[in-house]
Amino acid sequence: MDNYEQFSKMNVIESIATRRSLYELDHKIKITPKQFRDFIALAQTNAPSPVNSQSTRIIVLTDAAHQKHWDEVEKILANIIPSEKFAPTATKLAKFRAAYATILLFEDGNVVNDLQNKYPLYATKYPDWAHQANAMLQYALWVGFESMGLGVSIQHYNPLIDEMVQQNWGAPATWQLITEMVVGNPLVPAKEKMILPLTERLQFIDTIE
Ligand SMILES: Cc1cc2nc3c(=O)[nH]c(=O)nc-3n(C[C@H](O)[C@H](O)[C@H](O)COP(=O)(O)O)c2cc1C
Repeated sequence: MDNYEQFSKMNVIESIATRRSLYELDHKIKITPKQFRDFIALAQTNAPSPVNSQSTRIIVLTDAAHQKHWDEVEKILANIIPSEKFAPTATKLAKFRAAYATILLFEDGNVVNDLQNKYPLYATKYPDWAHQANAMLQYALWVGFESMGLGVSIQHYNPLIDEMVQQNWGAPATWQLITEMVVGNPLVPAKEKMILPLTERLQFIDTIE
């Protein structure tokens, strides 16, 4: 049903190990637009969510829409950042614009509210769980794109851009924008990153006192 066989040669473990935030991207991705769309649909279809609520909403911007999105973000930021300090931001936004697509990920507040009403015992938990569900889908997309040779970064210009996104891309006001994922063809590998010792962050316990 998911047509996942087209992706089945890819190694998930290797992609978890090699995934990085990549910012030097262009639009010339090495998979077809259909594969790109099919994979997003596959990841969204199969992602876990609290009580199977499927609260994540996605709007995918490519081509003129992707370009316009970053033009609009630039306009918003230019109204906030003083012009003499704007150059680094403009450079950064130009890199996002040069990529292939922007994937906007939201959580539907109506679904969260319904769950809170239906399960009052866990009412305070559902907003956090919605973020967790969103993050799981983000990570599935990120690792999957890595396995297809695409480069990704996630951006958070929300909530500054929420109204613009509602006006331009038709997102209902009840959808909370969580992240803006930029996807493209990677041009430059990521620099080495600092990794804290796992001894302080990971424990395996197999004996009891
Ligand atoms: C919840 C979350 C929020 C992040 N927000 C941003 C962001 O707004 N902009 C950005 O460029 N990277 C963002 N990142 C990416 C991190 O900076 C990056 O994952 C981290 O530095 C480790 O680098 P790596 O992704 O190459 O492993 C975010 C990552 C997470 C998990």
